[in-house]
Amino acid sequence: MGKKLTKQQKQLELGKIAKEIEKCKICKIDKVGMAVPGEGNPDADIMFIGEAPGKKEAATGRPFIGRAGKLLRSLINEAGLKEEDVFITSPVKYLPIYITPKPSDIEHGRTHLNEQIAIIEPKIIVLLGNTACLAVLKEKCFIAKDHGKIIEKGGRKYLIAYHPAAPLYSPKLRDEIKKDFEKLKKIIKE
Ligand code: URA
Repeated sequence: MGKKLTKQQKQLELGKIAKEIEKCKICKIDKVGMAVPGEGNPDADIMFIGEAPGKKEAATGRPFIGRAGKLLRSLINEAGLKEEDVFITSPVKYLPIYITPKPSDIEHGRTHLNEQIAIIEPKIIVLLGNTACLAVLKEKCFIAKDHGKIIEKGGRKYLIAYHPAAPLYSPKLRDEIKKDFEKLKKIIKE
């Protein structure tokens, strides 16, 4: 095991990855807008992983600032966390022209994402939806069945949750995503 990085060193390393993403030609294939590498505490205990930036994110370079982001950020606060204490990102770092990422986008995005995870070393990673599961666990999950599950794999702990865009399309899922975040609150207390 290597020596633990300080928060400052982590910030520096994450900055290098963000620069790599900005220059990455593979990331930009069939994508538009600014790079959205992620934001938050480089030493976060909790990391949230989504799918791909939307239009607002691509216009600003910040993750989860649209309608789904508003819901995510309010759920984070309701779980007793501050946005500046967690790290928020997505496997796909640019807005795909076809909106929903292709398997090749997820496959490539995983390389940058894994580097970010290795630096941050969060205690728990919240996988927001099917794309996040596929990117990080390298296996398909069925979010309607698997959300709320806690998984331990490769020395890391994951919580599977609905993506915050889901209740925007299907309002009855609002209660389900709330339950996922209640579970997160319970894990944090433990
Ligand atoms: N949805 C995501 O999955 N990621 C973002 O950054 C914004 C919306």
